[in-house]
Amino acid sequence: MTDQQNWQFETKQIHAGQQPDPSTGARALPIHQTTAFVFDSTEQAANRFALAELGPIYTRITNPTQAVAEERIAALEGGVAALFLASGQAASTYSVLNIANAGDHIVSSSSIYGGTYNLFKFSLAKLGIEVTFVEDQDDPAAWQRAVRPNTKLFFAESIANPRSNVLDIRAVADVAHENGVPLIIDNTVASPYLVRPLEHGADIVLHSATKFLGGHGTTLGGVIVDGGSFPWSEHADRFPGLNTPDDSYNGVVYTAAVGDAIAFIIKARVQLLRDLGSAIAPQSAWQILQGIETLSLRMERHVQNAQEVAEWLDSHADVASVSYSGLPTSPWYAVANTYAPKGVGAVLSFELKGGVDAGKAFVDSLQLFSHVANIGDVRSLVIHPASTTHSQLTPEQQLTAGVTPGLVRLSVGLEHIDDIKADLEAGFAAARAVVAAARV
Ligand SMILES: Cc1ncc(COP(=O)(O)O)c(C=O)c1O
Repeated sequence: MTDQQNWQFETKQIHAGQQPDPSTGARALPIHQTTAFVFDSTEQAANRFALAELGPIYTRITNPTQAVAEERIAALEGGVAALFLASGQAASTYSVLNIANAGDHIVSSSSIYGGTYNLFKFSLAKLGIEVTFVEDQDDPAAWQRAVRPNTKLFFAESIANPRSNVLDIRAVADVAHENGVPLIIDNTVASPYLVRPLEHGADIVLHSATKFLGGHGTTLGGVIVDGGSFPWSEHADRFPGLNTPDDSYNGVVYTAAVGDAIAFIIKARVQLLRDLGSAIAPQSAWQILQGIETLSLRMERHVQNAQEVAEWLDSHADVASVSYSGLPTSPWYAVANTYAPKGVGAVLSFELKGGVDAGKAFVDSLQLFSHVANIGDVRSLVIHPASTTHSQLTPEQQLTAGVTPGLVRLSVGLEHIDDIKADLEAGFAAARAVVAAARV
């Protein structure tokens, strides 16, 4: 077998982390639909509980199907370890709770998925964790101004949903590291095929695997990947949970027991996942892995279709503006070329000239595009964020996340481009009819 480290992305997405099943020879990954795993001896059982041997115990904490998916995604992101969880929300929650406690503070871009915004603003506040939202994520000085002595992490999306703005990962990582905190990146919209944040200074990457990683729109999942380079033990005072004995786990000190590189993932697994229990089902991990095997091919077509739709919308008489960083007129075009040279993905948004009513008529009349609260499906999807995904935010909060009242978000699928455009054109006709009727 060739050196796996040197495999290209396309090879890793099919093979990384998996061998034919040693007991049956099964070539495809078996679904290990079992709750618990037999120990060979009491000694082995004790070693697994003591983390001296990292084998499976119980499917809430580890499972061989899930483990292959974790290794595969870690390889694609260029990380050293990963933790698969039941949803992207669980991944965001665990990545914060793993290093921030009551009385602590985090800094996040405000240009994030509405569900993450709610989690940070309301649910973390109930747990005593404060967040400062940086409204201009492109300004490194704004990140620096937000830092407090009790800040534990920076958080942002590589390509943000729904505005398609691309983060200058290196600039924000540098500010984070100057302040001794990690940068956590939600890489859902980009996927590791388009952007690999760990190569640009980010420390932890997470995904809603529900989206492009799976690609089929059938299965919820989330994953956290550790880049393995953040020096947790050099900041022992800031991260006591990783550097002092965990009374809930026989007094283990994670950085001492497993080293800085995998301490974050091990702690999230054996402490948070053990206690909070957001485990992914083996069947779900397997389904998402099925999608990952074709990730590069799907992303290439997603980008090709989305780029063509964005350019077409940009010159369309009924469109006031288009947000897609693949357009040369986008304020993020240059930064996109640096971090996402293969393209900026399939999520784009645009404002109809006719405003909210035109936007609603447009969405209601589409037939090929499915009106759903999702992105990253092989099918083309559409939604009106202000009345759905971002509706629990105030109008002011919506604006800081880039959501204007007439904004329509598309997740461009893999159908033929002619059919995609024809459906959108029918939407414009319906929107024009509504605007014309209102004038009469
Ligand atoms: C960028 C981003 N992060 C996280 C999530 C949450 O993921 P999940 O729905 O898998 O919990 C979503 C869901 O839409 C998302 O778009």
